[in-house]
Amino acid sequence: MKILVVGGGGREHAITSALSRTSENEIYSVMAKKNPGIARIAKQICLAPETDLARIVAFAKKTGVTHAIIGPEAPLEAGVVDRLSAAGVACVGPTRAAARIETDKAFCRDLMTQYKISGNPAYRVFHDTSEAITFVKDHNGDLAIKPIGLTGGKGVRIMGEQVNLSGAIDYLREINGGVVLEERLKGEEFTLQAFVDGFHIVPMPLVQDHKRAFEGDTGPNTGGMGSYSMPDHMLPFVSGKEHTAALSIMASVVAAMAHEGYPYKGILYGQFMNAAGGPKVIEFNARFGDPEAMNVLTLLSSDLTDAVTGITEGTLSSSKVAFEHAATVCKYLVPEGYPATPMAGRPLVTGEKGDAILYYANVEERDDGLFTLTSRTLAFVGKADTLAKAEHIAEQAASAVQGNVHHRSDIGTQALLDRRIAHMKELR
Ligand code: AMP
Ligand code: GLY
Repeated sequence: MKILVVGGGGREHAITSALSRTSENEIYSVMAKKNPGIARIAKQICLAPETDLARIVAFAKKTGVTHAIIGPEAPLEAGVVDRLSAAGVACVGPTRAAARIETDKAFCRDLMTQYKISGNPAYRVFHDTSEAITFVKDHNGDLAIKPIGLTGGKGVRIMGEQVNLSGAIDYLREINGGVVLEERLKGEEFTLQAFVDGFHIVPMPLVQDHKRAFEGDTGPNTGGMGSYSMPDHMLPFVSGKEHTAALSIMASVVAAMAHEGYPYKGILYGQFMNAAGGPKVIEFNARFGDPEAMNVLTLLSSDLTDAVTGITEGTLSSSKVAFEHAATVCKYLVPEGYPATPMAGRPLVTGEKGDAILYYANVEERDDGLFTLTSRTLAFVGKADTLAKAEHIAEQAASAVQGNVHHRSDIGTQALLDRRIAHMKELR
């Protein structure tokens, strides 16, 4: 298959790696910054902003790709799938209208309400800042404040945790636009990703990401510091019934979108809060998660192009998709100061990585070595028959890197897992 991958992060390196396991694939890449891992795999790369649709379409035509996988959300919001489809390229990724499940948080909540899909927290949508401020004053307490549009995963503020009342008001003034104010959910978060062909949905193993910058879930929210998955594809604090409920919510959303006239094709990412009463939807994303893609694609044992044709031709079925029964742990190294004041331009020296898989993200490769940029730099994935072994592999490789970077040593450890399990027990 001649296939274009749009995006240049760790997620897209994992996508290109998975595609390269099939020797007859010819992989092309459009990315804003040169990802050294992708550049080594791709037959040809085009360095361009990932929202520059004209250049993406021109590159697709020039290279003659038949298929494309869209990694990040920004090009989906810009309508890259509509444009590539019009040029005859079959896409893994939703159209601009269908991508609203991620790009418009009010749309997502309202669709779920309209179709009586369970999993919505109590919420209100505001387009007027002073009305939102009045509501927040009247309900001073447990609210999540979310700008309606995309924020790179860093736009949510939780009252009572990250901001107090006056901080909430300041934040609403700063947004000065549409917001969703919703009930603050309590529980344990998990990610359920699925392949979707418009009608059929095939789930991937559950993953847990870690949004906070520092050990013990402290510090600011980030794009995700790392993630793990278990050999049984479940998580120890999610019951079979809760997993079924989450998948059923996703299937209902897919059915609702088809009914509305914009069938969802691509990767659907469900972020759930496993609450005392069952899973609630934190948000949907219209793409693989980053880092979660690195967990599931490292485990994918079937040919990714089978899923690609299943999605694009509407013939997806679980018989086309298989995942190894192993544990994975992914740890991202980020520049010191990330996310607020990342130290860019600093040298990074990798050490002995053992059995870990290295996925490159936001780094610059020069003749004299690797250098940090402003975002997540390198990710190491350990894969093994137990979580402890997978964690050890990822941790050894991550801690062998020298430079002004840090990673979370607690991701994938039994101690952290025990805390999650105890928290869930307490809630139930
Ligand atoms: P998002 O940008 O939607 O992924 O949200 C970032 C983080 O904010 C999530 O990972 C959650 O930890 C938190 N969050 C979002 N919505 C809620 C909510 N309604 N209740 C509690 N926490 C939330
Ligand atoms: N891991 C969170 C995201 O990809 O949005």
